[in-house]
Amino acid sequence: MRFENNTVFITGAGSGIGRATALKVAEEGGFVVATDINEDGGKETVAAVEDAGGEAVFHELDVTEADEFDAVIETTVDEYGLDCVVNNAGVGHPPAYTEDVTDTMFDYVMDVNLRGVWNGCQAALPHLKEQESGAIVNVGSLASFLGLPKQSVYSLTKGAVLNFTRAVAAEAGAKGVRANAVCPGFIETPLGDQFFDSQSDPEKAKERTEQQYPLKRLGEPEEVADAIAFLLSDEASFVTGHGLVVDGGFSVS
Ligand code: NAI
Repeated sequence: MRFENNTVFITGAGSGIGRATALKVAEEGGFVVATDINEDGGKETVAAVEDAGGEAVFHELDVTEADEFDAVIETTVDEYGLDCVVNNAGVGHPPAYTEDVTDTMFDYVMDVNLRGVWNGCQAALPHLKEQESGAIVNVGSLASFLGLPKQSVYSLTKGAVLNFTRAVAAEAGAKGVRANAVCPGFIETPLGDQFFDSQSDPEKAKERTEQQYPLKRLGEPEEVADAIAFLLSDEASFVTGHGLVVDGGFSVS
């Protein structure tokens, strides 16, 4: 039980990778603070955790709102303590060449994917550093390492998430706090589906993508959750500032 007596705070926990992480952590004894902008999704995650015999609470949280983030972290620290933070909430955007990206699209993706992770670290770090322990996992992407065509804003944010994570690791290590990123390839979630739905033939686009992966399939949210759980746990006690690629070999083929 790697997370016994630990409180794990997760953003974007109402769907996909965030929900799978909540279930994984709870299965291993952790108390989950599940947060999301989507109340229904977040509450479904809590229900799923409880159905599986675990413990979780839901807090509505828009990660782009720094004051809101500070308040939910504060409440978490006061009521349950805080050991681990997973800055997972993220959004994609319809494929578009850089010159066609609107200011609205740019601001939205930057706000959720980058400011959201920034806000999460700013809110949590004072508490983790004061108690001289804690682990953060920020969710990057293959786009943290690769520049994806027609995904330049997404690539911009995810590249920055990885380098920001390294900076946090370098700053907070002396206070016993680790920070890592997990960098998934295509994962079967609503966000992943959005990409295929934007193609002229979604079925064909998915099949073509699967064939580009050495493992000849897309990833499951649970496979990313396993990597996040490893990075949060004491098994990764000497791992910090790392970007763990979970991509079925895509980036090496
Ligand atoms: P998802 O769409 O299933 O879940 C994302 C969750 O974030 C949703 O519950 C949504 O309500 C929440 N969210 C969106 N905006 C928010 C905001 N402002 N405040 C709080 N919550 C907000 O997506 P998925 O696939 O589980 O994505 C999770 C993370 O994994 C994201 O950071 C994404 O960029 C990353 N990722 C996903 C990949 C994929 O293929 N699915 C690949 C690489 C990275």
